[in-house]
Amino acid sequence: MEGRNVVVIDQRPLPHQFKLLRLRNHRETAEAIRNMTIRGAGTIGATAAYGMAQAFLEDSSARYLRKAYETLVTTRPTAVDLKHALDRVLIEAHDAKTAVAVAERITDEYVERMKRIGEIGLPLLPKNARVLTHCNAGWLAIVDWGSATAPIYTAHRRGRKVFVWVDETRPRCQGANLTSWELLNEGVPHKVIADNAAGHFMQRGEVDLCIVGADRIAANGDTANKLGTYEKAVLAKENGIPFYIAAPSSTIDPHCPNGDAIPIEERSEDEVHFIRGVRVTPRGARAANPAFDVTPAKYITGIITERGMLKPREVRKLWKR
Ligand code: MRU
Repeated sequence: MEGRNVVVIDQRPLPHQFKLLRLRNHRETAEAIRNMTIRGAGTIGATAAYGMAQAFLEDSSARYLRKAYETLVTTRPTAVDLKHALDRVLIEAHDAKTAVAVAERITDEYVERMKRIGEIGLPLLPKNARVLTHCNAGWLAIVDWGSATAPIYTAHRRGRKVFVWVDETRPRCQGANLTSWELLNEGVPHKVIADNAAGHFMQRGEVDLCIVGADRIAANGDTANKLGTYEKAVLAKENGIPFYIAAPSSTIDPHCPNGDAIPIEERSEDEVHFIRGVRVTPRGARAANPAFDVTPAKYITGIITERGMLKPREVRKLWKR
């Protein structure tokens, strides 16, 4: 945060252009979350926390804060880190100064948690590991290390060989645009593959394990992540490949009993009709665009959290401790 401004990386022109954007008030911050200037569950949470801090700086009356909370919390309905972060600012802050401090604490905690996830996930990677990932669960999506990428970056920085299959992730191409850009900058060998190619490489024995992030984990371990994650998990099971979710405990929603209760964000049809401004469907065609799908717990080998590796059925226990 610089003064009252929240400064973010504008993810929309990546990988071709690196741009910082200054969000001047909580409404601009909410809009940046809604229109995917920034994306990824953890980055959404951290940015929303700063948005709430901006609201405190603007007017700390209860009425104004309640309205600002509503504006921010409705931007992305599936990613539960958003609500967790906003609730924390409201509960823990009592004025503008402490609101900024809480937002900073939330961001720092993400960094620490992702680092832990890197350590806990590291032993899962065999020698010369070939990892498949979907969407962007890298540092752009969740501060500094990423969730799915944390074990990969940890291995790579320690000189271990690791290769990544990157699903392109239509319609917004987070894999092709963001994950590949991150891995390239970090020097991690990888190949981007069309979304339909994952099964082919799994069947040929070219994938050792899958690691993806999460936007909301229900109390029974069912997990919402970017659309297409479910089919990758089914294919992994069919091919005897372990399938891991990497996420901080703030992505677990103890109030959500199972995947059916997870709200799935429906985004504009235009994200399917257009790729970077070029229409790829016939004029007049309709499209459906759910942003996430739910992977049932039975397809998940383990959930890597900063509090340890959990079986999906153990998620509940985490909240009873
Ligand atoms: O719609 P997005 O780009 O915000 O979705 C991102 C994902 O689904 C990520 O895989 C997810 O947030 C988990 S990693 C933090």
